[in-house]
Amino acid sequence: MIGNLNHVAIAVPDLETAILQYQDVFGTFVTVPQDLPAHGVRVALVKLPNTTIELITPLGKGSPIQGFLKKNPQGGLHHLCYEVTDIKAAQKQLTAAGLHVTGDGQPKPGYHGNPVLFFHPKDCLGVLIEIEEVPLPKIQGCPEGERVGVIHHPHKPSSDSLEGVEGVDVGIEVDFKHKTPKDNKEGE
Ligand code: CO
Repeated sequence: MIGNLNHVAIAVPDLETAILQYQDVFGTFVTVPQDLPAHGVRVALVKLPNTTIELITPLGKGSPIQGFLKKNPQGGLHHLCYEVTDIKAAQKQLTAAGLHVTGDGQPKPGYHGNPVLFFHPKDCLGVLIEIEEVPLPKIQGCPEGERVGVIHHPHKPSSDSLEGVEGVDVGIEVDFKHKTPKDNKEGE
């Protein structure tokens, strides 16, 4: 029922230190931090080819991650987010299986604007689980037009057998640094 891993959220006491670790030690691209007052967090995204890591730190008083950081002062894995295509159907199935939704049980817009729900860690092997409704072809971490599996790229076939075949979806042969959505329209 669940689809891709959309993101992993790590709660940190100091966002700047966390960003430096990911940039300089792990050598990843990290976005400029953003305040999300509606969620009580400040967030920077670590963009990996196949998923996103969210570095989150409390914003303002009464942040929902304040208690977590009290228990985990050095920071820690806060939640995993899985994609679903129909959040209401997923909620029904998971609650029928005995999982408990946190809060009032109503899907709310998450960081990315899509409806999300959280399931209590006590029912999920000790890990808070978020589900996010994502339209099917969208895959997190890829800019619009560079989505894995739906890329029209006739100039660079992924194997000899595809050579010269127009309009074949060639999967993950994407150069994230040098391609723009416009480039992918070439030759269409
Ligand atoms: Co999340």
